[in-house]
Amino acid sequence: MTADASGAGAGAGGHLGISGVTVARGGRPVVRNFSIDIPAGEVTALLGPNGAGKSSLVLAIGGVLKPTSGSIRLDGTELAGKRPEKIRAAGIAIVPEGRRLLRQLTVEDNLRVATYTLPRAEAEAGRKRALELFPELQKRLTAPASALSGGEQQMVVLAQALVSEPRYIVIDELSLGLAPVVVNRLIPTIRRVAESGIGVLLIEQFVTVALGLANGASIIEAGRLQYSGSARELREKPDLLHSAYLLRGSEADASEVLESIEPAAER
Ligand SMILES: Nc1ncnc2c1ncn2[C@@H]1O[C@H](COP(=O)(O)OP(=O)(O)OP(=O)(O)O)[C@@H](O)[C@H]1O
Ligand SMILES: [Mg+2]
Repeated sequence: MTADASGAGAGAGGHLGISGVTVARGGRPVVRNFSIDIPAGEVTALLGPNGAGKSSLVLAIGGVLKPTSGSIRLDGTELAGKRPEKIRAAGIAIVPEGRRLLRQLTVEDNLRVATYTLPRAEAEAGRKRALELFPELQKRLTAPASALSGGEQQMVVLAQALVSEPRYIVIDELSLGLAPVVVNRLIPTIRRVAESGIGVLLIEQFVTVALGLANGASIIEAGRLQYSGSARELREKPDLLHSAYLLRGSEADASEVLESIEPAAER
């Protein structure tokens, strides 16, 4: 299925370009004429208050929702409106908000479920790579998913997206429900993923975590693009973050994480 994705991955360059995308839900547009560029080998943050349309955009990128207009291009190939399997095969992996594991199945089987369409050798290589990124999972392979901690579950969810060695990964709410110490554990892995050449679109409630990891950043409000630029620049615009309701009490909970983050390189 992904045999045509050879040449993907590390050093392939390129970008995923989302341009003028509108997505409607319940008969009304919730993402409006939205554009964002996701370069390979970088983390791009997408920030926005609750209900802004972030998850709707993610579902549109993944082919679960059909955009009513606009374009989603992977290195020039139009993917808007294509089916989820097609988009996955083109090299885009989606981690939807609140993705759950199959609780009765072991970690190993949860990973297997994510590679069943791949040739055996590819599945094995992807699994090996995922376990390199999350070595903690190695000794949990035979445990049922229901026995995992929240952090371990999130690692398996991320590993599921990475086993098929995508070129781009879209992560909707990396730290949802996780303790700061666990978020801290995930940060270097997200960085490694990007350094391996994968383009990462990161939606993350802890703004400082997102902006510490990201090169580029965008803000979406009420479905519309409010800011697009460098993450570093945005870190220095607390007014903008406040006006988009992005800096609130919850940021204080993340202070342990925030202190440990080195800003990413300027785009
Ligand atoms: N299944 C649905 N049917 C109709 N409207 C929906 C549906 N899901 C979401 N919406 C609406 O679409 C808009 C965007 O929601 P979305 O979930 O994309 O926002 P979000 O930015 O991901 O928010 P959050 O930060 O809370 O996850 C909201 O107004 C929401 O009420
Ligand atoms: Mg959401």
